[in-house]
Amino acid sequence: MSLGDNIHCHMKTIEDISLSGRRVFVRVDFNVPFDEKGQVSDTTRIVAALPTIQYLIHQGAKVILASHLGRPDGEKNLKYSLAPVAKVLSELLKQPVLFLPDCIGTDVQRAVQALGNGEISLLENVRFYKEETDNDENFSKELAKLADAYVNDAFGTAHRAHASTAGITKFLSPKVAGFLMGRELEFLGKKTAHPERPFTVILGGAKVSDKISVIDALLDRADNMIIGGAMAYTFLFAQRHRTGNSLLEPDKVDIALAAIQKAKQKNVNLLLPVDSVITDLVDFETRTLGTLQTVGLDIPENMIGIDIGTKSVELFSKIIQQSKTILFNGPMGIFEIKDAAKGTFSIADAIAKNREAISIIGGGDSIKAINESGHGKDVTFISTGGGASLEFLEGKILPGVDALDK
Ligand code: 3PG
Repeated sequence: MSLGDNIHCHMKTIEDISLSGRRVFVRVDFNVPFDEKGQVSDTTRIVAALPTIQYLIHQGAKVILASHLGRPDGEKNLKYSLAPVAKVLSELLKQPVLFLPDCIGTDVQRAVQALGNGEISLLENVRFYKEETDNDENFSKELAKLADAYVNDAFGTAHRAHASTAGITKFLSPKVAGFLMGRELEFLGKKTAHPERPFTVILGGAKVSDKISVIDALLDRADNMIIGGAMAYTFLFAQRHRTGNSLLEPDKVDIALAAIQKAKQKNVNLLLPVDSVITDLVDFETRTLGTLQTVGLDIPENMIGIDIGTKSVELFSKIIQQSKTILFNGPMGIFEIKDAAKGTFSIADAIAKNREAISIIGGGDSIKAINESGHGKDVTFISTGGGASLEFLEGKILPGVDALDK
């Protein structure tokens, strides 16, 4: 039995406990991006928590939502206030959300006591206290005083052993998973541990070092592993190709070679780009590039690989078409710059076109890429986790999951 099965089969969920009239502390991950005007610019994580919140409302629970936002380092910095999130949530639910300007203390206790059945409150950012990230026992007790049941629906933060994700569970029972948590564990766990085959993993992003453990773990499960993004250049360099001025981790060459070796042993079809879009200049600030050109496996001196080329897109798309399970994590190029986004968006197109397959988009930049490609609704599951998705796929036990009733 694999980790994914194990956790998923034995974890209690909100459907296993009685909720009516109970004060329920719900840890959500409302760590959402904001635009220059201070407005929430992507509501994916808020929308993803709605099924749990709506279920709690219908069951007549008194809902106390808690989250972090950014990394305020234990300071009450209103730049990181959750007040704008309360507004968005209230609009989405079409119901008032009582925003409380603190997350512990007698005023907060009084306010949550006064909640009626089916009413909702959102606490201020738990990271305004450094005790949150310290997983401090007293702070955990203070949070626990607010409620008589605990729900964790914050998959994106489940890899952190903090007071509101781990410490609190020592002082509050029952402690169960929400629907989002359940779905994340099902898709990233069960569906990749026992995938319908062929199972194709597409990994991208800048650095091999960020994905070492995930590459290793997924080589045990995949039939095809496609590697794109700048991390592919470390693999190509390891195979003695010229990589010009492309982003490279020469000290990770041994790891790339070990992965190539493991793929051979495990009979995994490991695919690297066969061509690249290159340029002589990348300016991230102005989002501009120098002159563009497409080359084969070798990149000339002083040139930088910025995206996969059309031949690679063709090759990868063919594999994607034939797959029954697809996991996509990390862009194929510098997709935040328009002229270097084609490869990523074409791979998103190919994934979306394969309606027969279970397609799982693994967090972080990949969410942005799939949404910007316009295919957010055409895939089976989009994970809300960044670091948490990677750690879970690596096979690590997540403290926020481990702390729940089995
Ligand atoms: C995330 O955005 O990955 C989660 O909300 C966790 O945030 P953190 O990396 O600041 O703990």
